[in-house]
Amino acid sequence: MSGSQTTFALNTETAIPAVGFGTYLISNDDAEAAIRSAIAAGYRHIDTASGYRNEETVGAGIRQGLDAEGLTRADLFVTAKLWPGNPAWGDAPKTGAQTIEECDASLSRLGLDYVDLYLIHAPYGGDRRLEQWRALLDLQASGKARSVGVSNFNESHLDEIAAAGLPMPDANQIELHPWSQKPGLLAHMAKHDIAPIAYSSLVPLSTWRTEPGQDSAKTDEMKADGTAFRGMAEKYGVSEAQLLLRWGVQNGYAVLPKSLNPERMRQNLDLFSFSIDDADMAQMATMDRGDGVAWASGDPSK
Ligand code: A2P
Repeated sequence: MSGSQTTFALNTETAIPAVGFGTYLISNDDAEAAIRSAIAAGYRHIDTASGYRNEETVGAGIRQGLDAEGLTRADLFVTAKLWPGNPAWGDAPKTGAQTIEECDASLSRLGLDYVDLYLIHAPYGGDRRLEQWRALLDLQASGKARSVGVSNFNESHLDEIAAAGLPMPDANQIELHPWSQKPGLLAHMAKHDIAPIAYSSLVPLSTWRTEPGQDSAKTDEMKADGTAFRGMAEKYGVSEAQLLLRWGVQNGYAVLPKSLNPERMRQNLDLFSFSIDDADMAQMATMDRGDGVAWASGDPSK
């Protein structure tokens, strides 16, 4: 099965393609062509967010990509995210009504009638967090979002929803890779049937976000640790990126690789022609180094 066909269930009606195309840090100059190429390469799942400030160009790329491939909206899974506000940055938490308006604004920028998944981007809503979650449930009921979830939520944020007696999120999008495996959070999510979606799967690559102005908070120890991944990738005849992405989908996590390079786009989608053997999965399970590095500028769990 190819990466564009394998899916994981989100709720009774919705399944998420295992490999999605991530759009964080893709500029408005690049986004249209990148999304068009991604759809041509076989991606059927696009992950975006109002916080990425590229929804209009991503939306244009989606329209062009679908047209060029003779596809319809129903052939594509699109995720968008609410920026919830963040009092720590002087950014007032969105109210429930503002949450609905934000989703409408994202749909209009993307040029879509609905998204397949709408997420609260981070648990920054403070005492409005539950109000925001209720608004997402309303968006699902009105058909503007086929499924709803959260991102960067920890166990206590999920417990808050459970304690309020509300339906639980369909998914939680979190940083997940061999250096940030979050076993406690994943077990908690499994208990509540919350699907994991992995972001920043490529953190362990030596080249990950090394361009000026991009964040990388890797320790020297992490930077030095590429030998095992290189050895395994060589053994399976794949790239290190494919090995890291395969680790995610083999564990049952949808992954969201991003590349502007069409050859790497194709490579990152090709995750089902090999599998990582039990011994290597066991070795990778020992590499957990804690909370992750992608949110270097702040702790999203607060
Ligand atoms: P490029 O666009 O030149 O391929 P993230 O989405 O977590 O920021 O990671 C994306 C980074 O990983 C980009 O810098 C991208 O660079 C790089 N990348 C994506 N796919 C691959 C790959 N298969 N091999 C090497 N680097 C990759």
